[in-house]
Amino acid sequence: MALTEQLRQELDELVRNYPDKRAALIPFLHRCQEELGGWISPEVMEDCAEYFGLEPVEIYGVASFYPMFRLRPIGRHVVSVCRNISCDLRGADEIVQRACAVTSARVGESSDDGRFYLETVECQGACADAPMMVVDGTYHENLESDDVERILGGLE
Ligand code: FES
Repeated sequence: MALTEQLRQELDELVRNYPDKRAALIPFLHRCQEELGGWISPEVMEDCAEYFGLEPVEIYGVASFYPMFRLRPIGRHVVSVCRNISCDLRGADEIVQRACAVTSARVGESSDDGRFYLETVECQGACADAPMMVVDGTYHENLESDDVERILGGLE
């Protein structure tokens, strides 16, 4: 059983907000990813399939369609650098290069020491303060490349 009792209780609560139980699948996959190591494991897919009355492959179909869901283990800290137009025009490429250097991870991969997972993402709604990145859910905006080392360097 991959789902904790707490997550099962949250799911019971969540589905009450939707007219169709299955509509809760995506928000619930987000909660699973947050709580269970940053990715959707095959065991989580099986548990979700049982709960929602679907086949595991249908859960896989949803989880693999959306890029925000990860289907393999990742580093402890998720570093998401925006590469949409405002950030690109204001130096996102340099931010990405610096993030690669500081984390020792390539885009779309985790660092060998398991500290970081580095990705590029679409607009995060902070265009006015571009360029920006999100680290473990916290926005960092108006970045200079030196900020990247300051922000990421202290993370264990
Ligand atoms: S383009 Fe980067 S936050 Fe909008």
